[in-house]
Formats: sequence, C-alpha cells, structure tokens
Amino acid sequence: MSEQILSVKDAIIQRRSIKKFNGQPVDREDLLAIVDDAVWAPNHGNREPWRLVVACGEELAKLHELLRDLAIPKWQELSSETLGKQMEKFTTPGGYAFVIVPEDVRQKERLEDYAAASIFIQNIQLLAWDRGIGSCWKTPAFLDQPKFREALKVQPGERVIAMLQVGYFDEVPKGKERKSAAEIVTIFGEQ
Ligand SMILES: Cc1cc2nc3c(=O)[nH]c(=O)nc-3n(C[C@H](O)[C@H](O)[C@H](O)COP(=O)(O)O)c2cc1C
Repeated sequence: MSEQILSVKDAIIQRRSIKKFNGQPVDREDLLAIVDDAVWAPNHGNREPWRLVVACGEELAKLHELLRDLAIPKWQELSSETLGKQMEKFTTPGGYAFVIVPEDVRQKERLEDYAAASIFIQNIQLLAWDRGIGSCWKTPAFLDQPKFREALKVQPGERVIAMLQVGYFDEVPKGKERKSAAEIVTIFGEQ
C-alpha cells in the first residue's frame, strides 16, 4: 500500500509513538520506499545530513543478539523465559532504522544538521503511520558505545541519533495533552 490516505494534519495529530508492537515483520522495500520520500526534508545547504542502517527480516536475529549484549549485560544469568520477556521490547518491532548524522565541527552547522535529521525522522514516522506502520524514536545510551558503533560501522565524526523501531501494532496509545497555541505564543511587542 503506497497511496496516501491521511491528510498532513491528520498524520501529524494522529501519529503516536508505538512502544508495543505485535511482531509482524516490516518489508524492507516498504521501509526504503518511506525513506525515499522522507529525504525531502528541509536541510540547510542541501547537505542531506543523514544516513541509515536498517534491519528487517533476516538481519534481525543478529541485531537482537547485539541489542541483548548491550542492554542486558548479565543476560547469561537469566532463565530463557525471563530473557525472552526482557527482550520483547527488541524482538517485537518488525524492523529497525538507525539514523546517523555527521557531527560538523562548526556548531551552527552541527545544530542545523541535527535539526534537519530530526525533520527527516519525523517524515519517516509520518509516512510510516500513513501506511499503518508504527514507530518509536528511541535514544538508549548504548547508541554512543564503541561496541555498538563498530557493529554499525559508524565512522569518527558521525553520531547515531536515533534507534527507530518500526512495526505493526494492535492498539494506538492515547496521546498526552499538548499545550495550545494560546499557552505557548506571545505576540511580538506585547508583555
Ligand atoms: C529525540 C527523542 C528521543 C526519544 N527517546 C525515547 C526513548 O529513548 N524511549 C522511548 O520510549 N521513547 C522515546 N521517545 C518518544 C517519546 O517518548 C514520545 O515521542 C513522547 O512520549 C510523545 O508521544 P507521541 O510521540 O506518541 O506523541 C523519544 C522521542 C524523541 C523526539
């Protein structure tokens, strides 16, 4: 399914971070098609400051082992049942996209690149939502660990800013209240 169903407004308002996936796999072609559209994010100087490492299908087993080693250091001491339960947060998503940005030595460019990559990520989340695929942007501490960076072949001067879990889901969580425009806007020149 690739035809757009949701209006931009509905996609923005209705998208929720999905933290409970149902285990259904995500096809790599679907994920790549989403990325192909998401790259139309605004980005200063057309630097397109992003690249991704994705895992779907066959690649997932090896990735699960890596995530287990990083997130559950004493996993060998757990029963297979307990380990299985603790691993559910990693094994139930149907795919992964790790988003990598260059870390420009100039502060302005680095901030611009992080901002642009964030927009790119939301584009992915909204386009996925439009196809019935949920996602959650996660930032576990291991994204900066050498073992993880090596496994993803992250280069010096690059940083992994997102572990994007994608997948199908049975329930949409309720969105948390947001502040209204009246609460966050002041009119220029008024106190
Ligand atoms: C930069 C960033 C980092 C996030 N990191 C995590 C995370 O590590 N774990 C997590 O469960 N959710 C994470 N989230 C998702 C937020 O929890 C979620 O967006 C927030 O609760 C609002 O819910 P909504 O996306 O459904 O509107 C992150 C979101 C952003 C933008």
